[in-house]
Amino acid sequence: MKILLLGSGGREHALAWKIAQSPQTEMLFIAPGNAGTAVVGKNVDIKANDFDSIADFVISKGIDMVVVGPEDPLVNGINDYFRNRPELAGVKVIGPTKAAAQLEGSKDFAKRFMQRHNIPTAAYRTFTSENLQEGLDFLGNLKAPYVLKADGLCAGKGVLILSTLDEARRELKEMLGGMFGGASSRVVIEEFLSGIECSVFVLTDGSHYKILPVAKDYKRVGEHDTGLNTGGMGSVSPVPFADSVWMEKVESRIIKPTVQGLAEEGLEYKGFIFFGLINCDGEPKVIEYNVRMGDPETETVMLRLKSDLVELLLGVAEGNLDTKVLEVDERAAVCVMLVSGGYPGHYRKGFKITGIDSVRNSIVFHAGTAFDSQGEIITAGGRVIAVSSYGKDKEEALKKSFEGARIINFEGKHFRSDIGADLNFSK
Ligand code: AMP
Ligand code: GLY
Repeated sequence: MKILLLGSGGREHALAWKIAQSPQTEMLFIAPGNAGTAVVGKNVDIKANDFDSIADFVISKGIDMVVVGPEDPLVNGINDYFRNRPELAGVKVIGPTKAAAQLEGSKDFAKRFMQRHNIPTAAYRTFTSENLQEGLDFLGNLKAPYVLKADGLCAGKGVLILSTLDEARRELKEMLGGMFGGASSRVVIEEFLSGIECSVFVLTDGSHYKILPVAKDYKRVGEHDTGLNTGGMGSVSPVPFADSVWMEKVESRIIKPTVQGLAEEGLEYKGFIFFGLINCDGEPKVIEYNVRMGDPETETVMLRLKSDLVELLLGVAEGNLDTKVLEVDERAAVCVMLVSGGYPGHYRKGFKITGIDSVRNSIVFHAGTAFDSQGEIITAGGRVIAVSSYGKDKEEALKKSFEGARIINFEGKHFRSDIGADLNFSK
């Protein structure tokens, strides 16, 4: 099969690495890709949201399957675009339709969906500028901390957690006044949940599903979960508290009703579902849905997926996922992300990256990397390199990833040296 993967991050390098291992893969293209994906496939200089150029490329190369990495093309309707063009209708697109992608594209849609299907989540209400005063009054009836979420996509920046009522009221006014443009013209205010989070990933063909290895990511930039939120500074799989008892609750209360609910409502979904969950005293609740794999979770989940990913994706596309086998590697996997100095605030790009070839005990996935005019690998984003490793347990895997993280260098390099440490106390 000829496969086109859309996206350019660490998630896409990990997906490309796994797809390239399949005997089913005849050719793999990545659009636009990065300096790492260029090693496992062929990069194509097309942006993931440029549907017309993607379509031209798919037709000219006879691509059989398009795997969508990031959320934007899905929320913008790439699946529907392919179906609506007769010459593309036979191409297998891995990722939900625009209507179903609202699970990630609109927080209000996701909350209403969960309510309709009795899926456990934080209590909430949604406000617009028309009922701002009601929103301000509603906040007055809640206890701190206050959780405010812009309804639409904000590249991970749309959630504010505020410790005082004054701040929460001020931010609500700002958000409804256009702080995130149209994305915050509606704001979800919800109950604060406390607990430890994890990410559960499912592949579905719209009626059957398979559960991938569970992972935990580390969102804050600083040690011990301090500082600003990032796209993710590392990940660990498995997650000790997500044991069989807990996962049984997740499957019966969250996964099954979600897949069934989508089908009942005619929301066509063939792709990955990412359940952002929180463990509230042993009870799982949904913090958010995403309609794609997580980054940097993919950089550990793909290590632990023993089965052929392309076979599973074929099952997704053809509606016979139930006939496929999903085997998990018993080893632990971890990922330590190397980021640019200053990230997630202002940072500089274009620094030469050294040492990648000297890393022996880890798998190095590229995130924000590019080639300069001499063909040297340089930094091209906030999150630069994901150092992923296997181990008999997470400690052994972490030792390897930290060693790799020290060997690779670029100006301003930063990483968290406490990835996975919290899990020692979470059981
Ligand atoms: P989201 O974009 O919805 O995943 O939110 C980003 C982060 O905000 C989550 O990963 C949580 O750490 C936190 N968060 C979101 N909603 C809540 C909530 N209701 N209670 C506590 N923390 C939350
Ligand atoms: N690691 C969280 C995400 O991909 O949204």
